[in-house]
Amino acid sequence: MNAINDKQQVALHATKLVEHGMTVGLGTGSTANYFIEELARRHTQEGLQINVVASSVVSCLKAQTLGLPIKAIEHITRLDLYVDGADEVTPDLTLLKGRGYDLVREKLLAQTSDQFIVLVDPSKLVTHIGENFPIPIEVVPFAWQLVHHKLEAMGGKGGLRQNANKDGLAISSHGSLILDMTFPPELDGEALNHKLNQIAGIVEHGIFYKLANAIYIVADGQLSKRIATTQQTKN
Ligand code: A5P
Repeated sequence: MNAINDKQQVALHATKLVEHGMTVGLGTGSTANYFIEELARRHTQEGLQINVVASSVVSCLKAQTLGLPIKAIEHITRLDLYVDGADEVTPDLTLLKGRGYDLVREKLLAQTSDQFIVLVDPSKLVTHIGENFPIPIEVVPFAWQLVHHKLEAMGGKGGLRQNANKDGLAISSHGSLILDMTFPPELDGEALNHKLNQIAGIVEHGIFYKLANAIYIVADGQLSKRIATTQQTKN
């Protein structure tokens, strides 16, 4: 049997949270892919009856290929559980997400689920948001320049994300542009979340503040958990 890596292992732990009859949100990325695969295995081999809701076109296609019963995001009012990866996690469980192109769906699922569980390896643990990656900010196309100007006035630096081939702009699944911006370190996750929420023209941004219920971390095969206090979460 092949040895499993830390991302696979943390995903296996998370699938144990899934129970018969649940509606489960599927994340996007390499860790979330392992979760989707194990969920599909349990559905096929163990008869686990669930519905899934995808956070992106990519995870929707993967779930469909593996035979998981998919519900459209348009048809749900709540989720039991949403499991996804993250790009950064701070000690107060603020997340940076959105290296993919579906920020709005990801945040909708995070806000809608009874439990939002985030799966990471230790490389994602940071002291402040923006330590390793710029902040993705999805903007209405005609507003990008006005928004960019406001962000620069806050000390932000950066610009529009290029597509994978670097021959055009990245476009989200519903037609937004994405600004990737860095900010001075005195603007922490809480302050940035607050300021970005106030700016018209921003559809959504990658700071997930007080949304995660728990972080699962696997390092060298060992699982550890960080659980949010009641005051820390949306619920
Ligand atoms: C997708 O938009 C992101 O929010 C992902 O959750 C993130 O990039 C994690 O991906 P990995 O599990 O591949 O690191």
